[in-house]
Amino acid sequence: MNRAHDDQSAYAARRERLLATLPEGEAMLLFAAHHHLRNGDAEFRFRQLSDVLYLTGWEDPDAVVLLRPGADEPFVMWVQPKDEEREIWTGIRAGPVGAVERFGADAAFAVDELDKMLGERLVGVHTLHYAAATDAETDRRVLAAIAKVRRKARDAFDVVPDAFIHPSRVLHEMRLVKDDRELTLMREAARITCEAHVAAMKAAGDGVFEYELEALIDYTFRGQGGNGAGYTSIVGGGANACILHYITNREPLHGGDLCLIDAGCEYAWYTADVTRTFPVNGRFTEPQKELYQAVLDAQLAVIEASVPGARFWELHQLAIRKLTESMVALGLLEGEVDALIEDKSFKRYYMHGTSHWLGMEVHDVGSYVSGGESRAMEPGMVFTIEPGLYVAPDDEAAPERFRGLGIRIEDDILITEDGHEVLTAACPKTIEEVEAACQG
Ligand code: GLY
Ligand code: MN
Ligand code: MN
Repeated sequence: MNRAHDDQSAYAARRERLLATLPEGEAMLLFAAHHHLRNGDAEFRFRQLSDVLYLTGWEDPDAVVLLRPGADEPFVMWVQPKDEEREIWTGIRAGPVGAVERFGADAAFAVDELDKMLGERLVGVHTLHYAAATDAETDRRVLAAIAKVRRKARDAFDVVPDAFIHPSRVLHEMRLVKDDRELTLMREAARITCEAHVAAMKAAGDGVFEYELEALIDYTFRGQGGNGAGYTSIVGGGANACILHYITNREPLHGGDLCLIDAGCEYAWYTADVTRTFPVNGRFTEPQKELYQAVLDAQLAVIEASVPGARFWELHQLAIRKLTESMVALGLLEGEVDALIEDKSFKRYYMHGTSHWLGMEVHDVGSYVSGGESRAMEPGMVFTIEPGLYVAPDDEAAPERFRGLGIRIEDDILITEDGHEVLTAACPKTIEEVEAACQG
């Protein structure tokens, strides 16, 4: 199941749905990702564009997909051609024959043929669902292909594309609501992720380096069939937890400090996104407990409110309110909660969003707005709830006992027909559970 192309029927069903959604005269054109170099001529491991994976399961670079309802051949691919010599170096290619026989394309060609062929395939299409203005060279090729057939199309009283719609309008709306197969994969990503966090809690201790915990997490992700981390893991001991995107992960941990880990396994191209904050030596101090409980209370309140119809923005506002109330109760802020929210004083200690969509991307696709309002939750949507409190080590306005503490608690939530499911519920979260896991 961890190989994306194992289950072709799921991709065929999605293409059918997409083709049924597009009116005649519209088509979708997707360009797969390219290889990227890390440094010199050393390559990053290839990761396909999620839109291409979602509709085809095709895992090789430099492919092009055209979906056109009503055409004789509605699903056409241009792919890397077979090349015995290159395949010795970089692996077996499915090639155009494989694209038809194994991936269900109605027709497939070598990608070098694209510039010659694309225009003809777009005659009769007036609106192209295509990510224009993403890559200048790709735009140039698409526009050149259209220009080449414009006159011929006009003489035949036909049309060529003169309108472009970003795939976010149709395809990303589909991706936002997860199907059963996707939820199976996301549950597996969540399961492995929880196991990795528990392993890190157990392995932490005075003098252990942040990178050792990162390595253990990577080992757990890869060792259980995941692709690895869905985003670069954050392992921050002590005040490093206050650096929101801390990914250097190279300091030793100190007993008495907290450690914040934000790490999620990508499994069959779906990622989890989990944060836990725990005491390095297995016991929270009193100030750590106070701040931790404040974040946990806010997180539980937002989870509780996560039901069909709840609006994305309302959930964020609820997190802000709960956290601001705690900031006042703990002496971090002074004043009326409403005023501190209104003038954004809370941002001193809570400066990021509470949620984002989750799926093939850690910050997944799908609009946060609908009908001029913040998006209402629907069954099948998956998102994170990740409140936090961060007190900079040099914040002289904060009570001394909280300085240098950074805490975030993040879970992955699926909206169901009658409420929600916490996909990452297996990861220890209460003070007692976390201490037990650290000492386990
Ligand atoms: N790990 C990135 C995030 O929590 O949004
Ligand atoms: Mn997140
Ligand atoms: Mn995260």
